[in-house]
Amino acid sequence: MSKLQNVGQQVLDWVDDRFPLTATWKAHVSEYYAPKNFNFWYFFGSLALLVLVIQIVTGIFLTMNYKPDGSLIPGTNVSVAFASVEYIMRDVAGGWIIRYMHSTGASMFFVVVYLHMFRGLIYGSYQKPRELVWVFGTLVFLILMAEAFLGYLLPWGQMSFWGAQVIVNLFASIPVIGPDLSVFIRGDFVVSDATLNRFFALHVIAVPLVLLALVVAHLVALHEVGSNNPDGVEIKKLKDPKTGIPLDGIPFHPYYTVKDILGVAVFLVVFSLVVFFFPNVFGYFLEDNNFIPADPLKTPPHIAPVWYFTPFYAILRAVPSFLGTQVWGVLAMGAAVVVIAFLPWLDRSPVKSIRYRGPIYKSALVLFIIAFIGLGILGALPPTDIRTVVSQILSVVYFAFFFGMPWYSKLDKTLPVPERVTDSTLGRQMRFLALFALTLVLSAVFAWVI
Ligand code: HEM
Repeated sequence: MSKLQNVGQQVLDWVDDRFPLTATWKAHVSEYYAPKNFNFWYFFGSLALLVLVIQIVTGIFLTMNYKPDGSLIPGTNVSVAFASVEYIMRDVAGGWIIRYMHSTGASMFFVVVYLHMFRGLIYGSYQKPRELVWVFGTLVFLILMAEAFLGYLLPWGQMSFWGAQVIVNLFASIPVIGPDLSVFIRGDFVVSDATLNRFFALHVIAVPLVLLALVVAHLVALHEVGSNNPDGVEIKKLKDPKTGIPLDGIPFHPYYTVKDILGVAVFLVVFSLVVFFFPNVFGYFLEDNNFIPADPLKTPPHIAPVWYFTPFYAILRAVPSFLGTQVWGVLAMGAAVVVIAFLPWLDRSPVKSIRYRGPIYKSALVLFIIAFIGLGILGALPPTDIRTVVSQILSVVYFAFFFGMPWYSKLDKTLPVPERVTDSTLGRQMRFLALFALTLVLSAVFAWVI
C-alpha cells in the first residue's frame, strides 16, 4: 500500500468510526445483490434519477434569473415573469441551454417514468413483497404531475395562464368546499400575480422536497425487499449456503453501474438531440401558444395540457356533466391516477412476469396500452362528437383493466415459473422492439384518422 493509499484508508477508518459510510456503500451498492438477468427495461430507474438531478441543477440556475412577477412592464402587454424568461433565453450566458434542458427534462421525466411504470406492469414488480415500492412510486408520479403543473405556469405565457385557469376551475366543481378551495389555490378570484408567487414557492422548494423524500422512501423500500426481474423469480429464495449470497444475484457495483452508464450515454444522445435541434418537439414539449405573453382577455381557441397529462385530461372530458356539475369528470380523472396504487391488491395472478402469464392478461395489457395511448392522442385534440365517443370507449377499457383484474388475472392460464432466472434471448428482445415500432406506427395512423 502506497503512502497516499495509507492516508486514504486512515481517513476512511476515521469517518467509518463516526458515520456508516462504508457500511452504507456496501449495503446499497457494492454488496447489494441484484438479479443477474436485468434487461433493457431496467435502465429507466437510474435514468429517472438522472433526470431528477438534471431538473434540480438546471432549476437552481434558472431561479437565479427568473422573476415570479405577473405585473406588466409599463407601456407593454408583457409581464416581468415572461420577460425574465426571454432574458434568460437571449441575454444570460448559457441561459438558453439551461432553460431548454429544464423544459426538455420535464417531458423526458415523464417518458422515462411511463416506461419505468410499464416495466412494473409487464414483470408484476408491484406484487408481494414490493407493494410499498409501488405505492411510493405512485405517490412520486402524483407529486411529479403536481410539480410539472406548477412549473408550467411560471413562464406566464398564454398556455401557462389558461391551462392553470382551466385546471384550477375544476376544483371549483367539488361540492361544498370547491369554490373556496379554488380561491385558496389561486390566492385570488382569478389566476393572478398571487397565484404565480405561490406556484413559484411550491415549484422550487416545497414540492421538490416531498419528491426527494418519496424517491428516497421508494429506494429504501426496494432495497429492503430486493429487486424483481424479468422472470419474476425471487432470487433471495436460493442462496449459496456458505456465503449467503443469492445464487442468481450479482453485486450492483460494478455490474449494474457499468450497465446503467450505457443507458445514460444513449439517453444523453437523445436528450441532446432534442435540446440542440428541436427543443419544442413540434409544440409537444413547448407549446407554440406559450411563446405569446399571457393575456387574461384573450382565451386561446384550443386549450390542451402538455402531452403527459393528455390521457388523464381525455378521461376528464369523456365524462359528461351530470346534475349540472363537472365533478364526475374530475373524480374519474383522479381515480384514473389513484387506481394505479391499488394494483398490488387487484392482481390475483400466481405469477409475476408476463413471460409466464396466459393470453388473457397479455390481451388485457395490450388493450390497456392502446387505450392509454389513444386517450393521450385524443386529449391533445379539440373535442368532436366522434372523438368524445372514442374517448368514452377507451376510458371504459382503461378502468376495466384495473377493476376486471381480480377476476381475469385469476382466470388466466399461467406457465410454470422456473426456479432460477433465465437468460434473455436476442429473439425476445427483437420481438419487443418490433412491437414497440408497431405501436408507434399505429399511434401515428390513429392520430391521423381521428
Ligand atoms: C422520480 C421518479 C422515480 C425514480 C427516480 C425511481 C427510481 C427507481 C430506481 C433507481 C429503481 C431501481 C432500478 C430499477 O429497477 O429500474 C426503481 C425501481 C422500481 N420503481 Fe421506481 N422510480 C421513480 C418512479 C416510479 C414510479 C412512478 C413507479 C410506479 C408507480 C415506480 C415503481 C418501481 C418499481 C415497482 C420498482 C422495482 C422494480 C423491480 O424490481 O422490478 N417507480 N425505481
